[in-house]
Amino acid sequence: EEIGLDGATVIPGAIDVHVHLRDPGFPHKEDWATGTAAAACGGVTTVFDMPNTNPPTSSVAAVRDKIARAEEVAHVDFGVYGNVCDTNLDALEPMIAAGAVAFKIYMGSENTLVPAPSDDTILSALEIFGRHGLRTTVHAENQSILAGRGRRLKAAGRSDAAAHLEQHIDLAEVEAIGRVALFSRAAGAPVHIAHVSSAQSLPVLAAAKRDGTDLSCETCPHYVTLSVADGARLGDNFMRVKPPVRGPEHRAPLRRALFGGAIDVLSTDHAPHRPEEKTRPSIWDCAPGFPGVETSMRLMLTAVASGELTLGRYVEMAAEAPARLFGLAPRKGHIDVGSDADIVVLDLARHNRIDAALLHSRGNATPFHGIETIGLPVRTMVRGRTVMCEGRIVSAASGACVRGRD
Ligand code: DOR
Ligand code: ZN
Ligand code: ZN
Repeated sequence: EEIGLDGATVIPGAIDVHVHLRDPGFPHKEDWATGTAAAACGGVTTVFDMPNTNPPTSSVAAVRDKIARAEEVAHVDFGVYGNVCDTNLDALEPMIAAGAVAFKIYMGSENTLVPAPSDDTILSALEIFGRHGLRTTVHAENQSILAGRGRRLKAAGRSDAAAHLEQHIDLAEVEAIGRVALFSRAAGAPVHIAHVSSAQSLPVLAAAKRDGTDLSCETCPHYVTLSVADGARLGDNFMRVKPPVRGPEHRAPLRRALFGGAIDVLSTDHAPHRPEEKTRPSIWDCAPGFPGVETSMRLMLTAVASGELTLGRYVEMAAEAPARLFGLAPRKGHIDVGSDADIVVLDLARHNRIDAALLHSRGNATPFHGIETIGLPVRTMVRGRTVMCEGRIVSAASGACVRGRD
């Protein structure tokens, strides 16, 4: 293949360790073909899919089924998360053997498909994963606070965006991070804190790292780009995401922590829903989350263009750190000679406007619609094969399952 790269910049493909591709169970929101096409168009060459599908990825059969579905149609490489619940401790090691790349623990959950496990289960699961050197991704919110406050707010007839924020108080996140850090140390198991949303979590994360806990964390474009104030423009209920996008006082500290390295990883929590699912009159009926996998890189390149973020730090948070933390280096890594040619070609000068109608995700209800960006991934190569060129998928699906060390 001969390609002209005159004046272009190349970087490693992004590894997004937090996406929801919805298959099996919710193909009207997304499936493996649309979600990985969106990833390829966003410069993402590997995705890790979350287990809150239907059926949830909580058994050996579910891991095998999901890998088989993805292998058929995925445009980029993928890992499959297993879920931890109170009834599947005995299945966790067989799920590793079946190909789960890592596991997700929902400490806080309102989803009956992936109910929050007990503290005893969480600790026991971490002991198992610690023996395998597997890092576990944790949705860190206090379940009792979420459930109790949710119940009381609904009983009081509250159904607005402010009620959603009152339910997801900062303390719910801060407490869960502190607790899982203690469990991580006790179990000798590395943990990864998903979607850090509160500036109040930053000192707790820093303290855990200082104490030698093997803890890493991520945040997502919406937490470092938006605040509740954007509800005036987008609709307060449309803004619903768990954990919530909070007041404007959180955005700058989270952004500084991500760009400076205190937050290790940029993921997206790509959580596509149909537009009609995001615009219902009661916030409790609005589906939480946003698509993100196709817009993340260009939003970050815009920060590179303004001088706020270095391209080197972007590559570290989007590719190197996820590869290292989840054991993908060097086979899928981007650090050593001999790594896979998962490469993205950038046009750093390209001005563009994000248009929801042009996104490949089926759940294209993006809060970034209309935003002007500078810098665009124009070609995505997975293991040396061009899968995306100028916003189009150009080769047959050939995504492969990845797994870390075990
Ligand atoms: O906003 C969210 N959406 N948070 C979650 O934890 C789940 C996700 C989803 O699957 O829609
Ligand atoms: Zn989550
Ligand atoms: Zn998620």
